[in-house]
Amino acid sequence: ESRRIVTIDGPAGAGKTTVSRRAAGELGVAYLDTGAMFRALALALGEGGHRLPEATIDARLAAMTFALEGSGADTLLLVDGAPLPDAARTERVGGWASNLAVLPVVRRRLRLAQQALGASTDLLAEGRDMGTVVFPEARHKFFLTASPEVRAGRRVLQLESLGKPADYEAILEAIRHRDAQDQNRAEAPLVAAKDALVIDTSDLTEDAVVARIVAAAAV
Ligand code: C5P
Repeated sequence: ESRRIVTIDGPAGAGKTTVSRRAAGELGVAYLDTGAMFRALALALGEGGHRLPEATIDARLAAMTFALEGSGADTLLLVDGAPLPDAARTERVGGWASNLAVLPVVRRRLRLAQQALGASTDLLAEGRDMGTVVFPEARHKFFLTASPEVRAGRRVLQLESLGKPADYEAILEAIRHRDAQDQNRAEAPLVAAKDALVIDTSDLTEDAVVARIVAAAAV
């Protein structure tokens, strides 16, 4: 009997993380933030990590452990036994993660780790390629989008809530750059799965997005 998998993909700042966590809670499944896995690797390797020898990156990934603790909205992703530090949530580290996400060795290792997590528990998996590459057989797939301006505005609020400095223009520029890199890479580019429900969240409240996902995925 295969596990119940729900996928949510989309660009940076489309509101995926908050919405996904809440939807996982309402659906009663574990929540997996796959961006956090890329960010954890980025933090471990530091700036310029994507230019390290492939064997070095592969060895670091092979030694990394990923585990999910608890379920629903309170699910905790543990990387090497610890939750992702707030320092990994900056746009800067997001850029490093995006650089690493181009590399086939990184995509392969993290895909296998994500699939292993999905094999042991019912899951709502959030990222860029969950519905297209990692869980193509998922029962319910969603793709969240919003205009770059709306997404940059949300990122500013998110960073401010973490007490981090946030410059709207710089973030908009970084988001545009990261979008282009994520959409144009050769392997697992950011694109909606053919069978995904696309939701433009620009003019929707968070409650409305969660309600739409839960209604569609509950059946
Ligand atoms: O979602 P988040 O902004 O935390 O992701 C950071 C970066 O990790 C993304 O810009 C993307 O390059 C990469 N990523 C990916 N595939 C995923 C999740 C994240 O390539 N499933």
